[in-house]
Amino acid sequence: MKVTAVSDLTTRKNDVLIDGILEEHLKHPEVLEAKVDPPVLKVLNKEQGIFQGKLGQTLVIRTDDKSIPEKKVVLVGLGKVNELDLNAIREASTSAIKTCEKEGAKNVGTLLHEIAYETPIPIQDIVQAMVEASNYELYKFDKYIRSESKSKIKNLMVLAPKLKAPGGIGEKIRSGISIGNLTSQAQTLARDLASEPSDSMTPDIFASVAKRVAKENDLEIEILGHKACKQLGMESFLAVSKGSNNSPRFVVIRYIPKGKPREKIVIIGKGVTFDSGGLSIKPAEGMETMKCDKSGAAAVLGVMSTMKELQPDVAVTMIAPLVENMTGGSAIKPGAIVKTMNGTSIVILNTDAEGRLILADAIAYAVMKEKPDKIIDIATLTGACVVALGDDIAGVMSNDNKLAKEIINAGNAVGEPMWRLPVSKEHRKSVESKVADVQNIGNRGQAGAQAGYALLEKVKNDAEWPNKPTIPLGHIDIAGPAWPKKDPWPTGFGTRTLIRLVNKH
Ligand code: BES
Ligand code: ZN
Ligand code: ZN
Repeated sequence: MKVTAVSDLTTRKNDVLIDGILEEHLKHPEVLEAKVDPPVLKVLNKEQGIFQGKLGQTLVIRTDDKSIPEKKVVLVGLGKVNELDLNAIREASTSAIKTCEKEGAKNVGTLLHEIAYETPIPIQDIVQAMVEASNYELYKFDKYIRSESKSKIKNLMVLAPKLKAPGGIGEKIRSGISIGNLTSQAQTLARDLASEPSDSMTPDIFASVAKRVAKENDLEIEILGHKACKQLGMESFLAVSKGSNNSPRFVVIRYIPKGKPREKIVIIGKGVTFDSGGLSIKPAEGMETMKCDKSGAAAVLGVMSTMKELQPDVAVTMIAPLVENMTGGSAIKPGAIVKTMNGTSIVILNTDAEGRLILADAIAYAVMKEKPDKIIDIATLTGACVVALGDDIAGVMSNDNKLAKEIINAGNAVGEPMWRLPVSKEHRKSVESKVADVQNIGNRGQAGAQAGYALLEKVKNDAEWPNKPTIPLGHIDIAGPAWPKKDPWPTGFGTRTLIRLVNKH
């Protein structure tokens, strides 16, 4: 969908017009009269009570009046003014665009952003949230469905008569649109990568997409194959793909800002293109959903796809360890002991806890080769995190309070809810082993998300300087929100949060 700002309201040719209404608007006739056009007012007055302005509620009004060029108006509730925030704007935008789609609209005009004049929320943020939520709602993974060209919304026009007025409002609206379009495009890329069936998105194919993204954004890229990883001593990473005919790829993309970087961040995304569980095989039911086990890698690549345009003042290195976890004759067996590139030994007690094995080497690589100020990893890591927080909230674990807050605040700002999970001494102890430096699962049935994190933290500390941890590590477990059971397609969750994190000043 193309989003534009239009200041000349007389020539517009849209089928539907979106307008946002607060609950308070409906309680004051004179306010309502000033706010909506006569045909809309007529319906609202005639059918009192059918629309209360509750958040996300919609009402379609057919207009046969010359005062509005559109044939239909979609009113969307914005709720109460004192509860209005960016999440409410997202919810209202989602609801409105969904209704427009149901009405068969192709070109949509919107006045939703005008609510900016009634709240302290910056108009740029409002417009950005509108664009992101609308694009998100209209997403479909339908490339494999044969059908006549379906009616889709082609244009969304932000109707802004004040576009040229002094005060720079037009500038702000345009900037909200352009950053909203950019993040939407990044999230769409992440969703496409996560949605693509594993047989057509192998580690090698994923790496070729990464190559394209790097090229388009003038970024440095390294793609390490089996041999290069073996030379570096990444036994843990390589262990996971031993049972697969599709060879692993370890992708590193670097963005370096023009000036002196304010800091250096490494973002790492779990890229298991398919997780059968390996020899600790998963049940047949639902196994097909494990194509989304590459959602972390998809999110970090999405972030890199915005670098050319966003040009943040921090250095960003993206690492995507890509493997397929299969059961072939060479598959790693439970009981195997492998080493990460920094030399930490891991006993693999369950081959289905594979994400941490590939992330461990990525973290070791980050510490040893990149010397970053902070490391953030994002991964569909544990079912335990879904048990704890459900499908909509990601779990955040960290050795650093400031970084944990930073991640959770960024998530809140962009509508990706996250909650911190505590990590205790006992959790760290749960991955200790008598035969190796660490084991890849914790205590059965206890704090599974934290056990995953504890292994990563241990390898990071070892890689850095034994027992002297310094680099902050933030771990985002997206096993739930990467693909909630209620959703038809993976979500690209985390893309927006990470874009925000590398861009805040
Ligand atoms: N990829 C899964 C985690 C997952 C679960 C992702 C649900 C998305 C939705 C991960 O590799 C896994 O299998 N984890 C195991 C770990 C266990 C063996 C310690 C789990 O959570 O059961
Ligand atoms: Zn697994
Ligand atoms: Zn997995």
